[in-house]
Amino acid sequence: MTHAPFPALRLRRSRAHAWSRALVAETMLTPADLIWPLFIIEGEGVEEPIAALPGVSRWSVEGIVRQAREAAALGIPCLALFPYTPAGLRSDDGREALNPDNLICRAIRAIKDAVPEVGVLTDVALDPYTSHGHDGIVDAGGRVLNDPTSAVLVEQALVQAAAGADIIAPSDMMDGRVGAIRGALERGGFPDVQIMAYAAKYASAFYGPFRDAVGSRGLLKGDKRGYQMDPANAEEALREVALDLAEGADSVMVKPGLPYLDIVQRVKDRFEVPVFAYQVSGEYAMLEAAIAAGAGERDALVLETLMAFKRAGCSGVLTYHAPLAAQLLG
Ligand code: PBG
Repeated sequence: MTHAPFPALRLRRSRAHAWSRALVAETMLTPADLIWPLFIIEGEGVEEPIAALPGVSRWSVEGIVRQAREAAALGIPCLALFPYTPAGLRSDDGREALNPDNLICRAIRAIKDAVPEVGVLTDVALDPYTSHGHDGIVDAGGRVLNDPTSAVLVEQALVQAAAGADIIAPSDMMDGRVGAIRGALERGGFPDVQIMAYAAKYASAFYGPFRDAVGSRGLLKGDKRGYQMDPANAEEALREVALDLAEGADSVMVKPGLPYLDIVQRVKDRFEVPVFAYQVSGEYAMLEAAIAAGAGERDALVLETLMAFKRAGCSGVLTYHAPLAAQLLG
């Protein structure tokens, strides 16, 4: 395409007024683009602030239901739930993940009872339940075993689907688990339960505050580089996405978010499917620390950041700033 040169063309003309900026805006950000991650804790009437995530708390189940009502009122379509599991309930094999009355299942049922119009997404991975903090079953040498882990994740997904989860989000990075879960959901009578695959999930230093939030910090032996992706790789992310889609994922996720927008854009361009990004705990903490240090103004930073995800091609963003952003956009 050729354009007339200056002065016939002045791009500032369309920027001169709010009305014309609104007319030519290429990207929209609305509360409907947000998924709100929430941390659940045992008990009643409990709100426990998470020091590593200023402004974010763990809530007991009835508190989570209150947040779900708030989400509905704010136009946030979906919640992502994460349980805090005390050391006493953790085990080598993470078997509490398969307990149909575990904390997350009770939270799913309570939300779907009270606010059925809000979507509920649940993580499939064993790290909130293992004594070693890994996402799966480990051998004597500490290596996470792929196929035995996948078999347990299938059971975990079925337990969550039976409790009422709308979207199963495998966050473990085992090979073949999306296909195994999709097959089990079909056979188990849950053909309408969606799968959002954490398809391109990187072994990132940005997950620290999350591990505090779910009680895994300090437990983790070694690191997750044997199953999560190397931040050096982008082609490999495309291969991961291709596999998860072929295995039956309805949508895919890139994680972390802001440092990986190049991956979001490449996935969107290549596959033309719904792509989500997780603006993870360390990104949230980094923004909040910058705000506390006076480096910028919270509302503007949050909205600009979320707009960047949309511009890169995201259908939506998992973000701890979801309620603030929804208020600002509402
Ligand atoms: C569990 C899981 C993690 C996150 C989401 N699901 C941590 C990890 O893989 O170690 C991180 C989310 C965040 O940092 O906000 N597999």
